[in-house]
Amino acid sequence: MLAKANHVLLLSLTITFIFTIAFAFEPSPLQDFCIADSTSSALVNGKVCKDPMLTQANDFFFSGLHLPGNTSNFLGSRVTPVNVAQIPGLNTLGISMVRIDYAPWGLNAPHTHPRATEILTVLEGSLQVGFVTSNPENRLISKVLQKGDVFVFPIGLVHFQRNIGHGNAVALAALSSQNPGVISIANAVFGSNPPIASDILTNAFQVDKNVVERLQTIF
Ligand SMILES: *[C@@H]1O[C@H](CO)[C@@H](O)[C@H](O)[C@H]1NC(C)=O
Repeated sequence: MLAKANHVLLLSLTITFIFTIAFAFEPSPLQDFCIADSTSSALVNGKVCKDPMLTQANDFFFSGLHLPGNTSNFLGSRVTPVNVAQIPGLNTLGISMVRIDYAPWGLNAPHTHPRATEILTVLEGSLQVGFVTSNPENRLISKVLQKGDVFVFPIGLVHFQRNIGHGNAVALAALSSQNPGVISIANAVFGSNPPIASDILTNAFQVDKNVVERLQTIF
């Protein structure tokens, strides 16, 4: 009897484990497509499908990635996203893309995508790119990219790109989620709403309170 109970426990643990693996990435579609229905108020994981009979080519279409993003900001970079918010047909398909523009020395500051691996290619200019591995190594994996080069940023890892050329730089990147999400490190830590208590940040970053308060006013 006990042996049987153990067997059942082992089986249920195994099933749990298999499903944990299966849901580590976006689930596979169960139909050809599921165009996001922007009128639905139902809360599901992703977006509700609209009636497939109402599908149009425009549900899979976006125009405008030939246009440079406005880099007149303190970082000197601009990300133009093309995800399920721009293309409703991306719903359930586990993929999206961005165009990134960089002014000379422009920076796409350290950030992570909680739901996507990113594969980036340089269309114009030269970029210094990098990502940092998780604790305890926190190894920086970094490289200088030229036009036509491709680099991968693994899911969840903190990464950045900086234009090291004298002209503008442009990159295109694909991401393995319909909605990759962005967590900018500086904004999340020093710009949360409401703010994280400054004594928490002074302890975490081992700096004076006035340094933390200055960073909190910036972000
Ligand atoms: C770019 O952004 C800056 C700052 O927000 C703004 O002043 C400027 O008009 C924008 N340029 C264009 C072409 O939209």
